[in-house]
Amino acid sequence: MSTVLAIETSCDETSVAVVRGRQVLSNVVSSQVAVHQPYGGVVPEVASRHHVEIVNWAIAQAMQQADLSWDDIDGVAATVAPGLVGALLVGMTAGKTLAILHQKPFLGVHHLEGHIYASYLSEPSLQPPFLCLLVSGGHTSLIHVKDCGNYETLGQTRDDAAGEAFDKVARLLNLGYPGGPVIDRLAQTGNAAAFPLPEGKVSLPQGGYHPYDSSFSGLKTAVLRLTQSLPPIKATEADVVADIAASFQAAVARALTKRTIACALDYGLTTIAVGGGVAANSGLRDHLQAAAAEQGLRVLFPPLKFCTDNAAMIACAAADHLDQGHQSPITLGVQSRMPISDVMQLYLPQPEPVLLAAHGLSAAG
Ligand code: KG4
Ligand code: ZN
Repeated sequence: MSTVLAIETSCDETSVAVVRGRQVLSNVVSSQVAVHQPYGGVVPEVASRHHVEIVNWAIAQAMQQADLSWDDIDGVAATVAPGLVGALLVGMTAGKTLAILHQKPFLGVHHLEGHIYASYLSEPSLQPPFLCLLVSGGHTSLIHVKDCGNYETLGQTRDDAAGEAFDKVARLLNLGYPGGPVIDRLAQTGNAAAFPLPEGKVSLPQGGYHPYDSSFSGLKTAVLRLTQSLPPIKATEADVVADIAASFQAAVARALTKRTIACALDYGLTTIAVGGGVAANSGLRDHLQAAAAEQGLRVLFPPLKFCTDNAAMIACAAADHLDQGHQSPITLGVQSRMPISDVMQLYLPQPEPVLLAAHGLSAAG
């Protein structure tokens, strides 16, 4: 069972963790949310600069909290795709430098594979196959998890990601950034049946609707029209905002639940693991849990600290790849986009003696 130090800098969290197999030994997360809040979203160049400032401190903290020496580390990993290119470059460069310096294999990790592995951290006995509902600020996917590195996307969003929809609707309602947590909080006091909102079906050319794909841009527009049709909302009418938040959240939860349950049943997958920041959403948790129970399906929601971006999930994925003998080329680059079905393109079938020798190193364990 491998012990891996991993660095995650794909967006606005600088995170470094040490994981042994599926056991978290340390997980340092420094969020930049406050830095980006005035802009209403993540500013890529600002994110990169903050990663540069924090990453060395986070590496030192993660090693100290894990209480290990470099002799105990079997590999160094970093998120290399998908994400903000400048931000990814910071983590990958730090990871490669550590790998070369300490003569360890380097592993470039796919961010979404990391979100899948978050479920293993909270449920170490979990084994594929299972269905992963991945709902974050950048992605909304239904992924058939077949094995380490073997994934098939069965459904996805055709436009906005679920988290992006939460963020955009929060902006419409002047609730600030990020939108998910604040809408979730407000929705607790609102009436989810107050405003009927569309589910966002995706039409097929041959007629009918795609059973697993979703669309959230129409829902966002419906909320915009709704806010325009209402008299100006004053601070004293916060209950109207809460009703809109609750109605919107329920529409998202209904759409995701319907597709996820249909997909699990059609593919005979009895376990659904949810990942990504929107997995924290209480409306989605309640809806999906209830619908799954009705069908006799098991749903796993990782604890919130593993739902949002963190390096522990990246380290866990890397440790599994390392156990399978996978290692990335030291020449690996970062990519802003990459389908999860291409994960194995990040790894070489064999360790890479030629490239290691070019750096004056030998393949070290
Ligand atoms: O996975 P994540 O931390 O970063 C990405 O890889 O995108 O997800 C961030 C997203 C944001 O859009 C945020 O608004 C959303 O997750 N989010 C939530 C909640 N907490 C975070 N959405 C709905 N309800 C929440 N409680
Ligand atoms: Zn993420």
